[in-house]
Amino acid sequence: MQLVSEIPVLRELRREWQLKSKVIAFVPTMGNLHQGHLNLVREAKRHADVVVVSIFVNPMQFGPDEDLDAYPRTLPKDAELLEALGVDVLFAPKVADMYARGLEQQTFVEVPGISYMICGASRPGHFRGVATIVSKLFNMVQPNLAFFGEKDFQQLQVIKAMVTDLSMNLQVFGVATTRETDGLAMSSRNQYLNAEQRALAPVLYQKLQELADVIMQGRRDYTKLANNCKAELAELGFKPDYIEIRAAATLMPPSHEENNLVILAAAFMGKTRLIDNIQIKL
Ligand code: PAF
Repeated sequence: MQLVSEIPVLRELRREWQLKSKVIAFVPTMGNLHQGHLNLVREAKRHADVVVVSIFVNPMQFGPDEDLDAYPRTLPKDAELLEALGVDVLFAPKVADMYARGLEQQTFVEVPGISYMICGASRPGHFRGVATIVSKLFNMVQPNLAFFGEKDFQQLQVIKAMVTDLSMNLQVFGVATTRETDGLAMSSRNQYLNAEQRALAPVLYQKLQELADVIMQGRRDYTKLANNCKAELAELGFKPDYIEIRAAATLMPPSHEENNLVILAAAFMGKTRLIDNIQIKL
C-alpha cells in the first residue's frame, strides 16, 4: 500500500491506472477506522481493480461547537488495517493543501433542499462541508465507483443528488450499517461514551426496530409515532434531537401510500451525538 499525502502524486498514480484501464474504487473516510469502514473497503475491493481510501478530518463539515479538535486521529493504526486488507493507496492530505486559499474563501458545493432538513437543520452548513470535500476528493481520485455507509443515510442521499446534479462520472454505492453484537451502529464517536452510556446506547436502535415493527403492522400516524418514540428515549436518558419517518428516496414526509420508508434518528447520550436509521419496505 502506498501512503500518499501530496495531491500531484495521487494524480500521477491516477494517470497510470487510467492508462492500464483499471477500475478505481474510492472510500472516503475521516479515519479512526472500525469494522464499518473496513466493510466499505471489502465491498470496494469486490468491485474494482484498484482501491483508494482517503483519511481527512474535514474542518468544513464541523460546526463551531462540534468535536473537530477532539475527533480521534489514528493514522498509523488505520494504515496498518488498510494495508492488511490490500488497499492500494491511502490518501491522507493536509488541511493546508485541501483548503489552499483558506476555509473562508473556499468555493463550495451545496445540494439545496435535502441538505437543509433533518440533520442539516440541526447542523447548519454540515452537508455543504461534506458535499464540498467529497467533490474535491472525487476530482482528485476520479474514481469509477465510490462507497459510503448507509449509517449516514442523509449524507448518502446528499452525495447521490450531488453526483446526479453535477453529472459526475461515477457510481455511488451505499453499504449496510455495521453493528456491534448488541445492535449499536459502529461509529468513531462511540468511544466518547462512558461504560454506563455505552450500555444504554443500543436502546436507540431497539426503539427504531419497535417503531419499524408497528409501521409494518399498519400504523400510519407517523408524527404521533415519532413523538412517542422521542418521549420514550428522553424518559430513558437520551436527549433526542430528531426521530423522523420519511420517504427513503427523497427524505420528504411520506404520504400514507408511500411504501419505501426510512426512520432517521439522532439522539445525544451525554455529550455524544448518536445517529442511526432503519429502512422499511412495506
Ligand atoms: O462520512 C464521513 O466519514 C465523512 O462525512 C466523509 C464522507 C468522509 C466526508 O468528510
